[in-house]
Amino acid sequence: MMSLRCSSRLIRQLNKINLKNCRCYSDSSRINFMKDKLKHGPNLSEFITGSSEPILTERPNIPYLPDSIQDNLKRKVFFDVYGCQMNLNDTDIVWSILKKEGFERTKIEEEADIFLVMTCAIREGAETKIWHRLDHLRGFKRRRALSKYKNRPVKIGLLGCMAERLKEKLIEKEKAVDVVAGPDSYRDLPRLLALTDSGQTAVNVLLSLDETYADVVPVRLNQDSVSAFISIMRGCDNMCTYCIVPFTRGRERSRPIASIVDEVRHLSDQGVKEVTLLGQNVNSYRDLSGQSEKLDTHMAKGFKTVYKNKKGGLRFADLLDKVSAVDPEMRIRFTAAHPKDFPDEVLQVISERDNICKMVHLPAQSGSSAVLERMRRGYSREAYLDLVGHVKAAIPGVGLSTDMICGFCGETEEEFQETMSLMQLVDYNVAFLFPYSMREKTTAYRRYKDDVPEQVKKERHNRMVDLYRRKSQLLNEAEIGHTHLVLVESIVQKTGQILGRNELYIKVLFDQTDILSQDGGKRAVTPGDFVAVRIVGAKSSLLNGVPLYHTSIRDFYRDKSWGERYAVSL
Ligand code: SAH
Ligand code: SF4
Ligand code: F3S
Repeated sequence: MMSLRCSSRLIRQLNKINLKNCRCYSDSSRINFMKDKLKHGPNLSEFITGSSEPILTERPNIPYLPDSIQDNLKRKVFFDVYGCQMNLNDTDIVWSILKKEGFERTKIEEEADIFLVMTCAIREGAETKIWHRLDHLRGFKRRRALSKYKNRPVKIGLLGCMAERLKEKLIEKEKAVDVVAGPDSYRDLPRLLALTDSGQTAVNVLLSLDETYADVVPVRLNQDSVSAFISIMRGCDNMCTYCIVPFTRGRERSRPIASIVDEVRHLSDQGVKEVTLLGQNVNSYRDLSGQSEKLDTHMAKGFKTVYKNKKGGLRFADLLDKVSAVDPEMRIRFTAAHPKDFPDEVLQVISERDNICKMVHLPAQSGSSAVLERMRRGYSREAYLDLVGHVKAAIPGVGLSTDMICGFCGETEEEFQETMSLMQLVDYNVAFLFPYSMREKTTAYRRYKDDVPEQVKKERHNRMVDLYRRKSQLLNEAEIGHTHLVLVESIVQKTGQILGRNELYIKVLFDQTDILSQDGGKRAVTPGDFVAVRIVGAKSSLLNGVPLYHTSIRDFYRDKSWGERYAVSL
């Protein structure tokens, strides 16, 4: 009975898997794979996950490839990373998977056998950069083929969002590319790379509903860094009309809380001093893996979603609570967030914990309600401003950052002026400002016209940047005379000066000096130290300071709360 049920479930699942998308499966191997599944039933991992996709946790033994071809040992990989922090973290995941399979990593192009380019598709400009890089790599590949090292042919793999967007078309357009792997198929990379040895190209762009790489411990490419990223969720369900991300990264899914907390602990043990929790919408995090009450979602007033909200599970406030409790001397940041998911529970835990940075990313995208409607952001200008006021009241002295787009379909000068006035009203410490770039597949591509001329977009963009620079200069100048808690990141090679970041992620630069340490003596400053720094000078994106003494998060905040030091504005 059991095996019958499994078989019929499997047939249904096999029908659902689009193995055609996975170019590396030949027709016969596809049929053999299906026959095998029907004959023997699912293996243990398939049975547990309810998925019949092959899960490659072990080095795969692929029967239709000779051993010599499967032997990838000691092949050197060179990584190129474009795009957002998610891509940086994904590169650590890829490196972890390949390292386990015996690959080596090199930072020297000439030594590389495999170039893996982690790509971005968010705007046309992002893809143009990658095409230029591919021009270079194609030349490199050709030169290697003509050199005395021709027995070590160069392979090029394109990973990430542009790979997912263009799929097989990438190889048709750029013949030098050997592997195309989307964001959910990195476990498959060793096998895809093995296939290229027989001269095949290999494509796996299947998106998954549940892949979170929860069990892969990322190996950080930059081991010396005092900070690290942790992916807590993947994908996005919001479908903002301008955005390609839901198409390149698939449906939203959260990684179980326990595996995140384990990773934070592991990083803390390694001496990492700051972690950034990553996802497209970290604050819609929802761990449904355990038992919990089916509570309704609390959304800020005036905000709605385009999708049906899931119920129950552990939410972002629970995650922040658990993660910040692992090590009170580890700074916690998070990005990106969506304004709709800032219930009071989240604001409360941020305000209560000294080690959670008091910096909230509230990407407005536009200051015009009509444009926000066309963008399908789920809020109006008024609701956004109310939320800003609410966040500021709940976390006195909080820093704010935003993303803004100018020149979206149909944006009039008046609508753009509303964006400028929003930027005047809200004191953003950090802003990421973009001219709109139409992306195929998005709703805007199907429904609207990209009718703002490029020149106008450019000119509006310049105006936004000017305003932002002027305002952030003033905000930073207001910090002169205040003492900031700075986490030291590096020593500037040329000048020997010390570079760190304050709680708002603004760079702080100061001279190296021996300063009072916590044991009563004096010592120099090194990366990973928390230092109290008095701010003495300000530019729009840099503060200059004088180091006062070594400290810790707890000691720095022992006598003062964040809010006491900063006037509440707005
Ligand atoms: N999930 C995050 C980040 C998404 S991508 C968020 O919602 O905040 C980062 C930013 O790129 C977006 O916030 C948006 O401002 C910008 N962006 C996305 N699509 C774009 C497009 N087609 N043209 C210009 N900017 C875009
Ligand atoms: Fe894109 Fe909107 Fe999702 Fe952010 S929330 S990734 S802008 S669709
Ligand atoms: Fe780019 Fe993909 Fe990130 S499109 S911005 S790399 S999610």
